[in-house]
Amino acid sequence: LGPELPAALAGAADALLEGVSRRDLADRAGRVSATYRRGGASSVAIGGAADATAYVLSRLPATYAAITAAIEAVEAAAPDFAPRALLDAGAGPGGASWAALQAWPRIESAVLLDSSPVFLEMARRLAVAGPPTLAQAEFLRGDLTRPEPGWPRADLVIVSYALAEIAPDRLDAVVEGLWAACAGVLVIVEPGTPAGTERVLAARERLVTAGARVAAPCPHDRPCPLAAPSWCHFSQRLPRRRDHRLAKGADAPFEDEKYAYVVLARPEVELAPAGDRVIAPPRVGKPGIDLEVCGADGVERRFVAKRDRAAYAEHRRLAWGDRLARR
Ligand SMILES: C[S@@+](CC[C@H](N)C(=O)[O-])C[C@H]1O[C@@H](n2cnc3c(N)ncnc32)[C@H](O)[C@@H]1O
Repeated sequence: LGPELPAALAGAADALLEGVSRRDLADRAGRVSATYRRGGASSVAIGGAADATAYVLSRLPATYAAITAAIEAVEAAAPDFAPRALLDAGAGPGGASWAALQAWPRIESAVLLDSSPVFLEMARRLAVAGPPTLAQAEFLRGDLTRPEPGWPRADLVIVSYALAEIAPDRLDAVVEGLWAACAGVLVIVEPGTPAGTERVLAARERLVTAGARVAAPCPHDRPCPLAAPSWCHFSQRLPRRRDHRLAKGADAPFEDEKYAYVVLARPEVELAPAGDRVIAPPRVGKPGIDLEVCGADGVERRFVAKRDRAAYAEHRRLAWGDRLARR
């Protein structure tokens, strides 16, 4: 599983551009992004199919990449977890579903739930190019703040970049509703801003109290030891394809998506022993590597000297977000 869109999704995204002027796309993508940056919800940012196309071309590659990083953390924390049913809550165009099916092709059923008919239509249009589970998925219109008894339960529930759009006083209820729908693992991904991390931590705290175990990124279930001005977040580098660059009006062949996430597991899900996690970009200097690590005893700085050859070799390739092998 890599950060790059699967070829079938990239192809379906490019096909949306038939007959669309690149200038209009770039203008629209700029407006959509500006609305999200101002804190506007999708109901404001995405007025119609053309806006959804702009989202697919300009934002989906990055949210997809962040989701793949969170899914890789699930795979590392719960190597035997093999979900059969997926609920993609606040699915938008369905990037999380595509990523989940890349990681676990044996998922048999998928429900993409969203309040936006425009996004649901876009998700359906893209899904036609996807694996059979996605092409035959259920596209369910619903409001996460008003859970309905008929909503399906799934052993994998993903909610990506959607909690930001829930009114703060409804967040607890939404998170509890998602947990009720989850029979195995719940993955929450948000933008890697202080506010995004705050939402992730609030959900984490709420659900730990309800009996959830934290599978990633934290090696413990206790309150987050990071204090302002630091906040727990990570960065995923992704390549930009040509149409992605056009939509963004940017030349760089890659971008770095900052994200925050948490993976919560039901007690029945078997978890591998937790390893400490690198929570900032490692600083490599002449004498050795400086790491900021979150471990069972909280956050600590670790220096690995170059002359300590065995330890240096073990730590040399570690990147921000990686889990250290358990000693
Ligand atoms: C920024 S988009 C993220 C889409 C997708 N999950 C992703 O990662 O790219 C937020 C999505 O959440 C949906 N959403 C917001 N509030 C919702 C609610 N109360 N119930 C259901 N969906 C909601 C929006 O319609 C939109 O599709």
